[in-house]
Amino acid sequence: MEELIISVKGLSHNYGQVKAVDNISFSVEKGQIFSFLGPNGAGKTTTINILITLLPIQKGKVAISGFDLEKHQDDVRKSIGIVFQNETLDMNLTAWESMEFHGRIYSLPKEVRRPRIDELLKVVELDEKRNELVKNLSGGMKRRLEIARGLLTRPKVLFLDEPTIGLDVQTRMKIWNYIKKVNQEGVTIFLTTHYIDEADRLSDVIYIIDKGKIIANGTSESLKNSIGKDMIYLETDNDKKATKILKEMKEINDARNSSKGLVVSLKSEGTKFMPKLFDKIRNEGIEIKSINLKKPSLDDVFIQYTGRGLRDENREQNQMMSRMKMMGMSGGGH
Ligand SMILES: Nc1ncnc2c1ncn2[C@@H]1O[C@H](COP(=O)(O)OP(=O)(O)OP(=O)(O)O)[C@@H](O)[C@H]1O
Ligand SMILES: [Mg+2]
Repeated sequence: MEELIISVKGLSHNYGQVKAVDNISFSVEKGQIFSFLGPNGAGKTTTINILITLLPIQKGKVAISGFDLEKHQDDVRKSIGIVFQNETLDMNLTAWESMEFHGRIYSLPKEVRRPRIDELLKVVELDEKRNELVKNLSGGMKRRLEIARGLLTRPKVLFLDEPTIGLDVQTRMKIWNYIKKVNQEGVTIFLTTHYIDEADRLSDVIYIIDKGKIIANGTSESLKNSIGKDMIYLETDNDKKATKILKEMKEINDARNSSKGLVVSLKSEGTKFMPKLFDKIRNEGIEIKSINLKKPSLDDVFIQYTGRGLRDENREQNQMMSRMKMMGMSGGGH
């Protein structure tokens, strides 16, 4: 059997009345890149904070690197590295000083610490910025510095909470490369993200989390395959009626009226089925306004399980429009 580096059983966490984490279980094998994918408020940071010993365990069992989290906090802390969701760098230190300071906190002897700092600053391409004050670094550079800092103690597991939040595409890709590189050198990675592409590109295993609960898990491929062969996005003049009709067709896995319109997942190739779908809907007197065929994405997986998109631009836009209307402003441009 593969060696388990993280094992979580029946973990729950409440903040007062809020069920932030609700009876979740999962395990991570040594050497994996494991992702928690979920929207804002899903419970990702709460889970990470429990695993890294920042929050107490209210309910459930956690073992990291073979150590029971409740009994051996210090041993757990020695096996992990952390990159927090919010920046935690001291703005008035230089890049090198940030590393040096961190190494001293963890009592790394100078002869170990110094060469390792040099090596890691090179890995994240910040060698030239070593004497620059943190406050003068760009957002992406700060993030890279935090990753290097998280690796200073040679952790067995590196926890990354939203590693690329708010960064531009190019910087995000660079960070993905570092994460992969670090992983190839043997570090197990546990990351959280609400970016579909990030989970998709990096992970060996993805757990989709929503409202404190795990709603699906698997590899990117298996998750996509689990919902169907192809997806059809439809806009009609009567989505409700169309959904009902489509649900009854044998070629269809599921049809639902989501925040992104009418979404249909198919059991077989969509191109063959399209004409039949057209006929069926039109015969019922429903007008098709637009139709879009595509392969399932992780967003479709999320929609299938929750009825919402992971990144609900439509809903956000609608909310904004209705707020503008309420305020008596015109939503549309000229
Ligand atoms: N310190 C706190 N006190 C009270 N409620 C909290 C606290 N921290 C988080 N919550 C609530 O717990 C739930 C889960 O929050 P959490 O930060 O774990 O989500 P998340 O998945 O990390 O979200 P995001 O993608 O926005 O970072 C949310 O409803 C949040 O409002
Ligand atoms: Mg978070």
